[in-house]
Amino acid sequence: MLSIAIDGPAGSGKSTLAKLLAEELNIEYIDTGAMYRAIALKSINLNKRTYNEIRSMLSDTTIDFINGKIYLDNEDVSDLIRTEEISKLASDISKIDIVRKKLVDIQRNIALRKSVVMEGRDIGTVVLKDADYKFFLTASIEARAKRRYKQLLDNGIDTDLKSIKEEIAKRDYNDENRENSPLIKADDAIFLDNSNMNLEDNLNFMLKVIRGN
Ligand code: DC
Repeated sequence: MLSIAIDGPAGSGKSTLAKLLAEELNIEYIDTGAMYRAIALKSINLNKRTYNEIRSMLSDTTIDFINGKIYLDNEDVSDLIRTEEISKLASDISKIDIVRKKLVDIQRNIALRKSVVMEGRDIGTVVLKDADYKFFLTASIEARAKRRYKQLLDNGIDTDLKSIKEEIAKRDYNDENRENSPLIKADDAIFLDNSNMNLEDNLNFMLKVIRGN
């Protein structure tokens, strides 16, 4: 079984690259951020906010990936989890220890059964400590905000660069400073700042490392 861990902040291109890498290697792509987003969606929908409410909600929750889609309690929520509201709440809910435990267990189980490219914030440091390859991708906040801005405009969503930059800075702070599994580079991960790198070069770099040529 092959396991590739990719971590990095929002806008580092890790989702796109993980997807492309998985396609190229013909293995499964697992977006762990989507799992935190799905839990955030359920807690909003059911209005569950306290620790105890979230604990009992978790005991009655299933999350699956089927053909690149994420299913929450057997419902495809792939599109519903991509709002700004859910981005914020996912960052908050990911601080809760019982949420992380449940999702890390699911993530490890998937990697036991299948070869994966798994991306998130704590894959190289916690979830797959023994991954075959680990990458930590990042870019300047300007580059990341511009990418996000362009993505939203392309999707017809009117927005402004300044507020996106503020939003990303807030999320970075949240993700890097939480007590449970904060976003940090694993000691043995390959660090790559791709601020001035295009997608193709970044992908080729990763493939070279994996294929050893
Ligand atoms: O990658 P993303 O933006 O979809 O992730 C949403 C939030 O989930 C992010 O702010 C932090 C959290 N997250 C996490 O804590 N651990 C992961 N492995 C993946 C995401």
